[in-house]
Amino acid sequence: MSQHSADPAPNTALATVATHRDWWRDAVIYQVYPRSFADSNGDGMGDLEGVRSRLPYLRDLGVDAVWLSPFYASPQADAGYDVADYRAVDPMFGNLLDADALIRDAHGLGLRIIVDLVPNHSSDQHEWFKRALAEGPGSPLRDRYHFRPGKGENGELPPNDWESIFGGPAWTRVPDGEWYLHLFAPEQPDFNWEHPAVGDEFRSILRFWLDMGVDGFRVDVAHGLVKAAGLPDLGTHDQLKLLGNDVMPFFDQDGVHDIYRQWRTILDEYSPELSEQGGPHERIFVAEAWTPTVERTANYVRPDELHQAFNFQYLATDWDAGQLRAVIDRTLDAMRPVGAPATWVLSNHDVTRHATRFANEPGLGTQIRTAGDRELGLRRARAATLLMLALPGSAYVYQGEELGLPDVVDLPDEVRQDPAYFRGEGQDGFRDGCRVPIPWTRTGPSYGFGSGGSWLPQPASWGDLSVEAQQGVPGSTLELYRTALSVRREQHGLGAGDSVEWLRAPGGVLAFRRGHVVCVANTGGEAVVVPSYGRVLVASGEVTEADGETKVPADTTVWWTTG
Ligand code: NOJ
Repeated sequence: MSQHSADPAPNTALATVATHRDWWRDAVIYQVYPRSFADSNGDGMGDLEGVRSRLPYLRDLGVDAVWLSPFYASPQADAGYDVADYRAVDPMFGNLLDADALIRDAHGLGLRIIVDLVPNHSSDQHEWFKRALAEGPGSPLRDRYHFRPGKGENGELPPNDWESIFGGPAWTRVPDGEWYLHLFAPEQPDFNWEHPAVGDEFRSILRFWLDMGVDGFRVDVAHGLVKAAGLPDLGTHDQLKLLGNDVMPFFDQDGVHDIYRQWRTILDEYSPELSEQGGPHERIFVAEAWTPTVERTANYVRPDELHQAFNFQYLATDWDAGQLRAVIDRTLDAMRPVGAPATWVLSNHDVTRHATRFANEPGLGTQIRTAGDRELGLRRARAATLLMLALPGSAYVYQGEELGLPDVVDLPDEVRQDPAYFRGEGQDGFRDGCRVPIPWTRTGPSYGFGSGGSWLPQPASWGDLSVEAQQGVPGSTLELYRTALSVRREQHGLGAGDSVEWLRAPGGVLAFRRGHVVCVANTGGEAVVVPSYGRVLVASGEVTEADGETKVPADTTVWWTTG
């Protein structure tokens, strides 16, 4: 691991990006999953130094910011979403000096850094939880979590009927007989946000990373921190069906918003501040808030709360013009009154990659285990990305999607690490399929990921999908992303604003105007002929033009400039 001398100067300078206050409103934010991005020391696991070494690639790709999934000290029961020390880097990923160097280099390249904050639960190896367990019932440390006696004659039944999102009961009994709540794995005890020490601690953690120079936080399980008073029974065992469709006693409770109002004042203290270019630059929060509707999601991004929230309704939408138009309209209508930008996302580390989702029949949801028709999936994924990048607001890109990577659906059971895989009914436990380390080179032991193999095996097809194989190749998925990102940002400011002007279009086709750009997305299985709106800027497939008309093949998106 590299060593860098610590520099006391504040780490906030942004070299080349526009330092406008509202940079985040139309930013394209690239998610790095540190385990699987680049491995600098050959231990088969990605690390911060690996990420740092690949920052020029991200600058050249044309994204504005990088969101890093957790790299904190953690026993890795849930790939780092079980944090034992919020102010330390896990040795597997490096150390604080590596984090400092990464933030500095990113800023030097004009990239912003957003880190993951995990406030709903800690690791069971967190100091507080270890002491709470050791001190036994009555320990004041137990009040920082949700410890309860059990029900039944001898306390042998869990305190209520809540189930873990990963499967099985949301309660685990400790040897002294009490139970503690964990909405996720047993190694992830939920904090009790009613306890003032919890809030104090997280405000301090925010400041720690802001002082390190980060540009924002992605808030894990932002909808889960506050539980309904008395932890009431749900009264049903159909919890999974309700999740995301209903307000639950442990999700999307109104009390969470008080927490975010407090956090916002801290962030605002740090921003705007003067960058070296003399422009103000704002730090941001993005919420991972799974709520029943985009309207409820909008509550998280009111002007005095968080800045953005992931649009999971969009992520969960099939490749279907009607459904897409509905979710786009609904999102824009929900965000406009609160003045927050819409966000758009197609893939992340928790769902099947969109190249595989769209390779399968519609209606299967976001966790799919079959490869489907790969060619069709890739064609649709490219078209879907081009559609997403033409929409107003901020867009999220998950590492490897710019290479058109599919999910790896045939990982052997013995390599799986997703904690949900090891539990009963719940999430299906196949998230490892979207976490396979990404290929940088055509050949080599782990296709350039590192010199020592990779923690999840990469398929033989990875070489042809590598950065090396696609770089500079016209029509490759990587070049499509690069072109689209550069057109979006530098030439047409496509992400600006909060509305689209819909144009008449044949069935199965979306057509809209955004300033000088017209975007047409053909989600149908047949080619369509539409007017040529101007000069083609970029297309996800081969389009042909004749006599003022353009033939757009099936599952293809095109951008024209009319200006
Ligand atoms: C959401 C994260 O994205 C996911 O990976 C994690 O398992 C859960 N939150 C629990 O932290």
